[in-house]
Amino acid sequence: MGQIRLSGIVKSYGKEVVVKNLDLAVRPGEFLTILGPSGCGKTTTLRMIAGLEEPDEGDIMLGERTVFSRSKGVVLPPEVRGLGLIFQSYALWPHMTVAKNITLALKEQRLSKVEIAERLEIALKQVQLTGYAERYPSELSGGQQQRVAVARLIALRPSYLLMDEPLSNLDAKLRTEMRASLKRLHRDLKATTVYVTHDQIEALTLSDRVIIMNKGRIMQEGTPYDIYHHPANLFVAEFIGDPGINLFSGTVANGALDCGDVTIPLPEALAARGGEMVAAIRPEKILVSDQPKDGWQEVKTEILQPTGADTILQVRAGETPITLLQPGFLTLDEGSSRWISFAPEALSFFDKKSQDNLREIA
Ligand SMILES: Nc1ncnc2c1ncn2[C@@H]1O[C@H](COP(=O)(O)OP(=O)(O)OP(=O)(O)O)[C@@H](O)[C@H]1O
Ligand SMILES: [Mg+2]
Repeated sequence: MGQIRLSGIVKSYGKEVVVKNLDLAVRPGEFLTILGPSGCGKTTTLRMIAGLEEPDEGDIMLGERTVFSRSKGVVLPPEVRGLGLIFQSYALWPHMTVAKNITLALKEQRLSKVEIAERLEIALKQVQLTGYAERYPSELSGGQQQRVAVARLIALRPSYLLMDEPLSNLDAKLRTEMRASLKRLHRDLKATTVYVTHDQIEALTLSDRVIIMNKGRIMQEGTPYDIYHHPANLFVAEFIGDPGINLFSGTVANGALDCGDVTIPLPEALAARGGEMVAAIRPEKILVSDQPKDGWQEVKTEILQPTGADTILQVRAGETPITLLQPGFLTLDEGSSRWISFAPEALSFFDKKSQDNLREIA
């Protein structure tokens, strides 16, 4: 296993530049997720690493090996790059049994019959499909087919693993289970992994590091913790988190941020800076009381959404909508009052024009 390194990668389709001068380094054994909205260039990036798509410019290295270089004129085909791939459509061969699907690549590697049989058995056991070896893909559910695709990688033991939205066709429960098996797969193989998704939960739960992409560019690179707690700009702040982050746009006045219906406390440095900015706070970070408290702001509850463990509260301060998240299954009366407060350490502030996080800059 080794690093995956992309430098200066540019890719256009016709006039549209879909990947713009991308630099990316995945450490040996790391699980890196590329997260971003539809059409931002995730699949294109993964396909370039796999060799299924040629960049216009730049270099791609797998370990110490250059597999693509425009300047040096190197283009290695996908089959010699030593990669394991799972794509959104699991691409099992419909006319082959589960066993054949899993062992096809092993036979091409000329492993011994004993070794192949052993790897097949281990792989099927790990995805809990022992006994399904002689079935055809059409005789399996979608989730079972996806597990066969995972078993194929377990058996292949690749040093590099590329996955493109491998869980997108599964129902919620199976998705959670499969997230755990993918995490286990990565732990067992210790393969350098690039995982593509537009699902932030997958990105936060699976990754060592996350790259947030938008319109072919990297918006932020960091651990799941950092991406969630220290978004580098408003795009990342809004993209990550469900329910979404609360944003309050306002002007500095009297040492605080005046946002009309709400007033947000400001750190001294930002109060001194003055001007217009946007304050952001996650729903679960807003303090809530069911009794009036000194200096706390009264809000009216409008809509409750209990999800089981938590309840999402849509409330209003004057005309300003605010989302709160409270633990427990709440059943309040619509229109009842609550009192909220913003803990200074839970707030982020963004420049209104550049949209960059001001605290990261300060
Ligand atoms: N073969 C192609 N020909 C022309 N345009 C393409 C081609 N493949 C992708 N594109 C365009 O490139 C952009 C990036 O596509 P890509 O498939 O990388 O997006 P993505 O981030 O994977 O999105 P999604 O989350 O929807 O899968 C899109 O605007 C898409 O329309
Ligand atoms: Mg895609």
